[in-house]
Amino acid sequence: MIIAVANSKGGVGKSTLAVHLAAWLDKQGHRVTLADCDTQQSSSQWIREAAPQVKALCLRDPDDIINELPMLAQETDYVVADGPGSLAETSRALLLVADSAVVPCKASMLEIRALDAATKVLRQAQKIRSGMPKAKIVLSMVGKNYRLTQDMREAAALLKLPITPTFMTLRQIYADAPGQAAVVWNMGSRAREAAVEVDTLFRELVPEAVRRPAKPAAQRRQPVA
Ligand SMILES: Nc1ncnc2c1ncn2[C@@H]1O[C@H](COP(=O)(O)OP(=O)(O)O)[C@@H](O)[C@H]1O
Ligand SMILES: [Mg+2]
Repeated sequence: MIIAVANSKGGVGKSTLAVHLAAWLDKQGHRVTLADCDTQQSSSQWIREAAPQVKALCLRDPDDIINELPMLAQETDYVVADGPGSLAETSRALLLVADSAVVPCKASMLEIRALDAATKVLRQAQKIRSGMPKAKIVLSMVGKNYRLTQDMREAAALLKLPITPTFMTLRQIYADAPGQAAVVWNMGSRAREAAVEVDTLFRELVPEAVRRPAKPAAQRRQPVA
């Protein structure tokens, strides 16, 4: 199973999501590879420190992606590919071999409008491959009191991209995680809400991967201050 994290815009939360997803799949007991397809190579460095059991490698050349990703997918249960910002040929290669795609997108009407261009390569792949890879939007860096508005829903529906019910909220802890060589569920009580959030999100995104039950609701809730 190859899951591509793709949005040709930079700074939308791809690497943050990809590293957490790869480490989460590992925590569920699967064999996981993180393929870092970005020039910055930040996610492969981060995962090597945060979850060394996850196999990490850098793949940028489109031919290498097409030839090697399917082989890697046979060796491990999941390949999570962290997509590049602007390398269209690399994205195209990735989306030609991916089984599913996750599209992080900042929660604003402007960003959703930009998604049409930012997912052009995704739609090309879906057209050629009869709807594959199946894709979902994950809203990222969402403000605390944000509510998904009807116009955002309609804009996403026009692109035929469903939005997951759980978002990644804007939290300092996500920005701190790479510097601490960690994923949020290993960062103590300050990160508890983020840990619950990503766990809930990944259960929605990859339900077939779930092997460990979620923590009971009582343990998941933050005490009221
Ligand atoms: N939910 C979030 N809350 C706060 N900061 C975030 C969040 N997600 C990502 N960031 C920060 O935003 C920046 C861009 O995120 P990154 O995952 O590198 O995006 P991309 O891979 O799409 O370029 C990084 O500094 C990252 O630490
Ligand atoms: Mg990145």
